[in-house]
Amino acid sequence: MLNEYSLMMPEKIYSGNNSLEKLKLLVMDKYKKVAVFTDRGIRGSGIVDTLFDILEECKIPIVVFDELPSEPTWMEAQKTVDAFKEESADCIIAIGGGSVMDVAKLASIASSGEYGVKELLEDPLRGVKQVPAILIPTTAGTGSEATPNSIVTVPEKNLKIGIVNPAMIADAVILDGRALIGLPKKIAASTGIDALAHGIECYTSNKANPFSNMFAMEALKLIFNNIIPACERQDAVEEKNNMLLAAFYAGVAITASGTTAVHALSYPLGGRYHIPHGVSNAMMLLPVLKYNKEACLKEFSEIYDEVIKKEQGLSQEEKADLLLIEIDTIIKRLEVPLSLKAYGVSKSDLEALVHDGLEVKRLLVNNKRTVTEEAARMLYLEAMEAEG
Ligand SMILES: NC(=O)c1ccc[n+]([C@@H]2O[C@H](COP(=O)([O-])OP(=O)(O)OC[C@H]3O[C@@H](n4cnc5c(N)ncnc54)[C@H](O)[C@@H]3O)[C@@H](O)[C@H]2O)c1
Ligand SMILES: [Zn+2]
Repeated sequence: MLNEYSLMMPEKIYSGNNSLEKLKLLVMDKYKKVAVFTDRGIRGSGIVDTLFDILEECKIPIVVFDELPSEPTWMEAQKTVDAFKEESADCIIAIGGGSVMDVAKLASIASSGEYGVKELLEDPLRGVKQVPAILIPTTAGTGSEATPNSIVTVPEKNLKIGIVNPAMIADAVILDGRALIGLPKKIAASTGIDALAHGIECYTSNKANPFSNMFAMEALKLIFNNIIPACERQDAVEEKNNMLLAAFYAGVAITASGTTAVHALSYPLGGRYHIPHGVSNAMMLLPVLKYNKEACLKEFSEIYDEVIKKEQGLSQEEKADLLLIEIDTIIKRLEVPLSLKAYGVSKSDLEALVHDGLEVKRLLVNNKRTVTEEAARMLYLEAMEAEG
């Protein structure tokens, strides 16, 4: 356990059904012009119209950026930041998944024009907060609403790279379960597995500490108890609210701890083949957790005790095995696609994947069991053998 640790949190957090109404408290009579960041998929979901109605009631002029692509490259993110700069808005509201929130967070620190996304990739701490940001997640999810991270695709490196700067912590967050009502099951499932990965990775990270453990464990309890109904039933309002809370908690855990080899090895799958973030994490999750088992017996068995505990008197190893079986069952039940082949990945790509995955040292150093080149090769091969 580390001796020193810290935790970061958005200044204001509102949660629960109808919490979107709290937006009035946050913006009424405070700003001259609000920039709303969103994307086409979310605009169709209804929650964005509710947001517009609230802003109209507040009589604030708005400008809308709704062309944001999923999992943008740094150049695409820069294009939106440039368009934002033209508008001189003094408040940002992002309503969307991690893709939308991450670009909004970059805009909040890169509107002065002194540096852009490329410069932030080279030197993330250059950025200072220029415009306050209110984040409203519509997936549960990345936890981006809680973190100081913004992830962009860097095609030149075939990777996704995280820009990390505490100035990107949101000023306010609204977790309203209504935002998830129209979320297609497929996206709810893979984004939910992303949150599950955040929880487990943060709990088993070399950087884990009492702050992050508390948030990671609460996130895992909520996820194991709610992910299936939240993904499968449109009317599971309480379960969807719980998943939003869980994703947020797991994001808070990231600020104090950090993800590990699951995320590190999944970044080349996103960067090279554009496999959605939650799906690529689901592909790497079980291979990496099985590999980590011998180094994480205590942590896995603690998670089993807190979140599953179906049988008494088991050894740590038995509990760890049951935890992995439970995760496998959830991934299969939710039909998260696991076939790398279906995304065009073949064995001839193996060495490139190994090379790129080992570049993600920022996260690999957090992994309890060292990931050698040979281990990375074995883990990608195992993921390639999975079908689903
Ligand atoms: N900043 C962080 O801390 C952090 C952490 C993990 C991942 N990420 C990044 O976040 C991105 C992924 O975000 P994501 O998984 O939330 O997916 P996403 O934002 O890319 O959205 C995926 C799809 O879901 C649609 N969608 C979202 N909400 C919807 C809703 N309520 N109804 C209907 N459709 C909806 C979107 O239109 C999009 O087509 C990746 O770039 C990933 O690297 C960031
Ligand atoms: Zn993630």
